[in-house]
Amino acid sequence: MDATIRKAAAQFGRQAAHYTTSRSHGSGDSLAVMVALAGLAGTERVLDVATGTGFNAFAFAVSARGVVAVDLTAAMLGEARRLAAERAIANVTFVRAVAGALPFGDRAFDVTTCRIAPHHFPSVPAFLAEVVRVTRPGGRVVVGDTISPEDPVLAAWHNRVETLRDPSHVRNYTAAEWQAFAEAAGLTVAAVDNTCRSRLTFGDWVTRGGTDPERVAALREAFAAPPPGAVAAFDLRGEGDALEFAWPITIVAAIRP
Ligand SMILES: C[S@@+](CC[C@H](N)C(=O)[O-])C[C@H]1O[C@@H](n2cnc3c(N)ncnc32)[C@H](O)[C@@H]1O
Repeated sequence: MDATIRKAAAQFGRQAAHYTTSRSHGSGDSLAVMVALAGLAGTERVLDVATGTGFNAFAFAVSARGVVAVDLTAAMLGEARRLAAERAIANVTFVRAVAGALPFGDRAFDVTTCRIAPHHFPSVPAFLAEVVRVTRPGGRVVVGDTISPEDPVLAAWHNRVETLRDPSHVRNYTAAEWQAFAEAAGLTVAAVDNTCRSRLTFGDWVTRGGTDPERVAALREAFAAPPPGAVAAFDLRGEGDALEFAWPITIVAAIRP
């Protein structure tokens, strides 16, 4: 198994239960925007890649025929299955798979989506190649992920704190890089939304990350002396465990030609 995938499986296998109760994942503003950009009519077969505990799959399931939700990590899928049963959601099925090797036939889905996960993938181009393969011509692709600002100093600080908190973090790309990834995959970009935020609180964020005390101390130092522009770019406010911040999200909606 690829080293990046091994790290993500270990990280999310350990921390799955914390994601079930995560406010930023369960009720973030990106859920509604992603579903709206998919333009669902109610008849679609939807694929949700790296579903985690299923929040994006559940949001799509309300307006689609059915959703197949895949994830690398058995423990995350276990939480997702439990939540689906608790909420009496009957049109979502779960499959264990990696984003770069999806176990589905060509053109199997009308809509493919993925939310707040590709920054963990070893290769975004390999993931998007699979997305293009399994989505039917004319189908929609809606991908949302946390992004870094264009400013290289802010982007380096952002990726450094993310990796300190969770060693399975690969990279937050920029909005421009996401658009370029989609175009390079052969998708026709129909809309880009950069208005959503993943709103986080320091104490919850490091608990959900399972971050060890040494790294938590290094993170406190990094947040105490952020680079110029970080307060505005990440909406930093408060202090200690109550420190709040917001990671920007880009959502790319595209047509599979
Ligand atoms: C932050 S959670 C996902 C959040 C979820 N999509 C949501 O909207 O609430 C990231 C998920 O990505 C999964 N993951 C990481 N790398 C993966 C890969 N290469 N293939 C499939 N899933 C992966 C992890 O197991 C984890 O469940």
